[in-house]
Formats: sequence, C-alpha cells, structure tokens
Amino acid sequence: MIKLPFLLALLYVQLSVAQQNVFYKEPYRPQYHFTPAIHWMNDPNGLVYHKGEYHLFYQFNPFGNKWGHMSWGHAVSSDLIRWQHLPLAIPEEKDTMIFSGSCVVDEHNSSGFATQPGQVPMVAIYTAHIEGKNQSQHIAYSLDDGRTWTKYNANPVLDLGKKDFRDPKVFWYKPQQKWVMAVVLPIEKQAQFYSSKDLKQWQLMSSFGPAGDTTGIWECPDLFEVPVKDEPGKTKWVLMHSPAPYMQYFIGEFDGYTFTNSNPTGKIYRPDYGPDYYAAIVYNNLPTGQKPVSIGWVNNWNYAQDIPTTPWKSAMSLPRELSVKKINNEWILLQEPVEAINTLVKSFFSYGSKKEVSGPSLLAQKGQTIDLELKWRVVPGSQSGVRLAWGGGGTKYIEVGYDEARRLLYIDRSKAGETGFNPAFGKQSRYETPLESIDGKMKLRIFFDKSIVEVFANDGQAVMTAQLFPDEEQDGIMLFSNNKKVVFETITCRILAPVW
Ligand code: FRU
Repeated sequence: MIKLPFLLALLYVQLSVAQQNVFYKEPYRPQYHFTPAIHWMNDPNGLVYHKGEYHLFYQFNPFGNKWGHMSWGHAVSSDLIRWQHLPLAIPEEKDTMIFSGSCVVDEHNSSGFATQPGQVPMVAIYTAHIEGKNQSQHIAYSLDDGRTWTKYNANPVLDLGKKDFRDPKVFWYKPQQKWVMAVVLPIEKQAQFYSSKDLKQWQLMSSFGPAGDTTGIWECPDLFEVPVKDEPGKTKWVLMHSPAPYMQYFIGEFDGYTFTNSNPTGKIYRPDYGPDYYAAIVYNNLPTGQKPVSIGWVNNWNYAQDIPTTPWKSAMSLPRELSVKKINNEWILLQEPVEAINTLVKSFFSYGSKKEVSGPSLLAQKGQTIDLELKWRVVPGSQSGVRLAWGGGGTKYIEVGYDEARRLLYIDRSKAGETGFNPAFGKQSRYETPLESIDGKMKLRIFFDKSIVEVFANDGQAVMTAQLFPDEEQDGIMLFSNNKKVVFETITCRILAPVW
C-alpha cells in the first residue's frame, strides 16, 4: 500500500514543478534565496556533497505553514544557488518527529548498510522526537544517492533517556579514522562529543560548555576545520551552535577527543549579528580544496511562525564560504557568499568616479533583488551608509550604517515595512556590532532579496542578516551621511536574476 506521506510528497513535487510560476511570484518571496514552494521550513539539515550534488535537507512540515509534523524536506543543487526540489526524504512516523541532524557519505561502508559491491550508503543521523517524553539519536540510510531512505531497524543509536538531547552533527575525522558526533544538551547548555567506528555504537569523549552566551537553550552544534586566511596549510577548528535565538562560535583546536577554545572567554562571537540567522551548519564531504560552506535559517523563533508570508514560511541564507583570521589577537570567522552567486547577474552598474555624500543621496539604480558593493571613507565622527527598500516618499527604508564615533556597524529595520504581525518583531529592529574600519574605510557587500537583507562587512569579518516586509514600490537605494562629508570610492549595483 502506498503511504500517505509519500503521496503528499509526490503532490508537493508536482506542485513545485508545475506551478513554479505561480508560487515564486508572491509578495515578499525571495528570488535567489532558497525557499520551499509551499509550507513551513526551519533548520537546514544533512548538508552533504555527493556525486556532483549539494544536498540540502531541511526541517519541514508537509501539512501546513506552521511548525509541526517535522520531517526532512529535500532539495539538490549543482552550484549551491539553483535548487531542484525533491520529494520528502524522511517523514515523521506515528508519535515520532524527525528533528535536526546531519548526513554523511559512508565511503567504506563502515555501517554495513551497503549490500552490493560498489554501493555507497548515505547515512542520515537525526533526533527522533517524542513530544514531552524523549529525544534520542537515530539513523537512516539511502542506497540511491539520497532519493529514498530506510530507517535503521535497531534505532536509537544513542539514547540518554532524556527529554532534551538533540541535533547530532556527524563528520569523518580522518586522522583517527573515526566518526565524530557533536550533539547538545539544550537545557544544560552543553555540547557533547562522541565517536564511533560504524555510526551505530557511540562513545562519549568529552563535553564543552556552558560558555559564552548562556541566556537561551543551546541547539544545533557543529564542529569543523577551517583554513586560516592567507596562511596556506594552516587550519583551526570552529565550534558553532545556536544559543536561542541567535548563534555563537568558538575558535580553537580539536585533537580528536576534546575541543579547546583559543579565544578570550569573556566575549561572545557570533557568525551573524543580525536578528535572523539560526541553526547554521556546514557541508560534509566537500571536494578537496573547497572551503567549508555553511547555510543558516533566516528567521527567529521569537516571531518565526507569524511572519506574513504565504503559502510558505522561511528562507535559507546564501551559502557562505568560511575561513578564519587572527585580528588584534582574536580569532575571527570570515564569511563570504559563495562565488556562484555572481552567475545570477542580470545587469550591472558601477560608478566610475568617487562620490561625495553629505546628507541623503538617492541613486538612479533601484531594485528589490540586488547585490550592492560599497566602499567609503568613514571620516572621524561620521554616521553614514545606505538605505535600501527606500520608498514612501522617504518615510520607509531599512538602514545599514556605520557609526564611526562608536565604531559600530548597525542595521535598523524599524521603518522598513510591515511589523504588526508579532510584537517581538517590532522590538527586535535595531542591531549593532563593534567593528573597526580598515585603513579608515568601511566595505560592505549587501544582498537585498525582497524580504531579506544580508550584509557582509569588511570581507566577511561581520555579517548581519535581517528580514523585512516592504511594499513592492520600496525599491530605492539611498546613500546617506548624517553629519559629515564622506567619500564613496566604490558603488557597484548588480541586479540578480531569480533562481526559480
Ligand atoms: C532549532 C530546533 C532544533 C530542533 C528543530 C525542530 O531550530 O529547535 O533544536 O531539532 O529545530 O524543528
């Protein structure tokens, strides 16, 4: 008998293919950020590269536009930018939801799931959630490159008998030829590290935390090796996770058993200093030489379920390439959008000369699907930057600016559009992060895509992501300086094409 989840999954794919034209033109729909055609999505799951495909699994409700019935949705891409929707990968079952987790390519069949020579199992490791009762780690495998999945018949593979114990991220630790799992005890605010030879039996090695941001519960850990920028052959280890409702990272060393933090302990470092970036993890099994790539969920649990989008909710961030650098005795995570984003450029405009700005200065270019590059000299005491989604006769915009006197990069969406859907959204409208200029200059690359702004500052030293819900006519781009004359040396505006 064909099961209902599979019929629904089939329907979902048919809808998303046949009616793409209808589904991808709704108000607020991002055009080059990943979104499901219909229904609710949260965390990215099981990011893995295999046989020329980047897989993106994600927390998905196949039955509606709010959180519930959590299952793994699925899409693939050959460039991390253009995605093809695939049928539901791992459906919920009776009283058990499929929570976040990861996916590995079991090249040597350590799990024994392959039954024929030449078969390479993909193995998903996820949290089985029984509401109010138990969270334990389960596995499922695919022998057809991720198209169909079978749950292991001896699950769970790791159960502490706890209500909160989740989000396993498993990767291959080559030096010791073993699998390593990072997983969290959310309430204890602790990450644990386990090892295994076969993905079925796990031994506890060590734990990390509480540390850094301990205000919220801890979710979605990841531990990965990252190249040091401009120092070929040198690497560090990053422990990144989501203390609700934001994210933080630690940079240090991992010896196969224990993670040690090399950064000052009294300071909180975030992969994103905006309101809407959560549950990011990195890809497993990337081709040799490719830098680690992360994807995060562009939303915030404080208001996530009420954002005014239909028939879908939530988008993924642009995939970000990661490296680290020591700046003023601190290790900083550097993030840049993957290069393939440049293949979407539809039209391009660049100012040939420098532009002096004192006060407001509206550009001739406009758009709601843009990639804007700016570099300007932030003279002492200046407050300057850019307003996007500018409209309503100058009453509406999101502001991205640099306050030189306070050495702060900020984003302010209080005037950007619809806010009334949830009081928390209005309260979380201004975000700041300390950032030093480089040789007296600020350099921003800003992606504005309908209802998302993603700001990469100073070559990815700080990133800020925010949702906004502007009118369609809010497409102006305005440079500004509130008090001093500043000089913009780079103003490049690219209009990006939809990926759907
Ligand atoms: C994070 C999270 C995870 C959990 C999943 C459930 O956003 O709460 O901890 O596995 O979402 O959908």
